Amino acid sequence: MKSVQIEKFGDPEVLRVKNIEIKKPESNEVLIKNLSIGLNFIDVYHRTGLYPIPLPSGIGLEACGVIEEIGSSVKLFKVGDRVSHASMPIGAYSEKQIMPEDKLVSVPDGISDEVVSCITLKGITAEYLLHRAYQVKKGDKILYHAAAGGLGQILCSWANALGAEVIGTVGSKAKEEIAKKNGCHHVVNYSEKNFVDEVEKIVGKNGIDVVYDGVGIKTFKGSIKTLKIRGMMIAFGNASGYVDKIDVKKDINEKGLFFTRPSIAHYTLTREELVESAKRVFEAILSQKFKIEISKRYSLNEVAQAHKDLEQRLLTGPAVIIP
Ligand SMILES: NC(=O)c1ccc[n+]([C@@H]2O[C@H](COP(=O)([O-])OP(=O)(O)OC[C@H]3O[C@@H](n4cnc5c(N)ncnc54)[C@H](OP(=O)(O)O)[C@@H]3O)[C@@H](O)[C@H]2O)c1
Repeated sequence: MKSVQIEKFGDPEVLRVKNIEIKKPESNEVLIKNLSIGLNFIDVYHRTGLYPIPLPSGIGLEACGVIEEIGSSVKLFKVGDRVSHASMPIGAYSEKQIMPEDKLVSVPDGISDEVVSCITLKGITAEYLLHRAYQVKKGDKILYHAAAGGLGQILCSWANALGAEVIGTVGSKAKEEIAKKNGCHHVVNYSEKNFVDEVEKIVGKNGIDVVYDGVGIKTFKGSIKTLKIRGMMIAFGNASGYVDKIDVKKDINEKGLFFTRPSIAHYTLTREELVESAKRVFEAILSQKFKIEISKRYSLNEVAQAHKDLEQRLLTGPAVIIP
């Protein structure tokens, strides 16, 4: 079967489509035929080695597929079930994949394979960021960076549906309209304007309840400046570089802020957490709390281009790989 593999960390050219033999599932595993695969910024961190993985390796963490074969002790699923997943073992950029049954979730009818492959990793992330890392309440003023991006499309609309006042930043003029469509009440183009000043004009000085910052090094200090006293700083990504140092005195103590640097793994620690979170996501899309507009579709042979587009900030919403 065709599978994208990397043998060394590096630029998108290290992504190679190989013909590999797929093993039989172990007793607790299933063999899945992938129908649609999610493209995520974390795949870039794995490819570059920012998040090191043992090499050689497959790549990709999010897919929707159908079960073709099950191991002898599998109880939760049967052949023919449609499932999705958003976690290790890595290797979703493949025609087929072996996964342990406890990492899979059942997918309800009424949501297409492509959409499922955009809302398992990104949807569960939006769910834990909005409901558990911080609980967004009606009237909260939230700031989300890269509001026209893949996760931005889901999180901003969902936050809007929860009654928050949503401010989204974007990196280009063309993305301003997209962020509005994604549910942002206010959009700031941070390539043209200082976002701290712009946010202050909208909500006043120290006016933000929670910042969702997946951009990282470029926005971190500014994000802190927008927060209210006892506000919540959620640093959850590194699109522009990793924030590995914070100055507790200046960054946190000055306003008594809360700070967290979570990952999806921390919020899907048990099977119950995973299933409950996915259920919330599927219910939210079925009740139109958010919608998915797929920005681009790639084949497995085009994944190097997909990574270039993602890193060059050309994508405006979730993208998928169709094997
Ligand atoms: N911690 C977790 O559990 C978790 C889970 C999922 C995703 N994430 C993080 O969430 C963020 C969004 O993920 P995504 O997959 O939906 O990606 P995305 O938002 O579609 O793409 C990243 C966006 O970041 C912005 N950006 C700003 N500076 C950039 C730079 N120097 N290089 C590249 N992009 C830059 C770009 O938007 P503009 O052009 O508008 O600036 C770009 O479109 C990522 O940081 C990802 O790692 C974290």
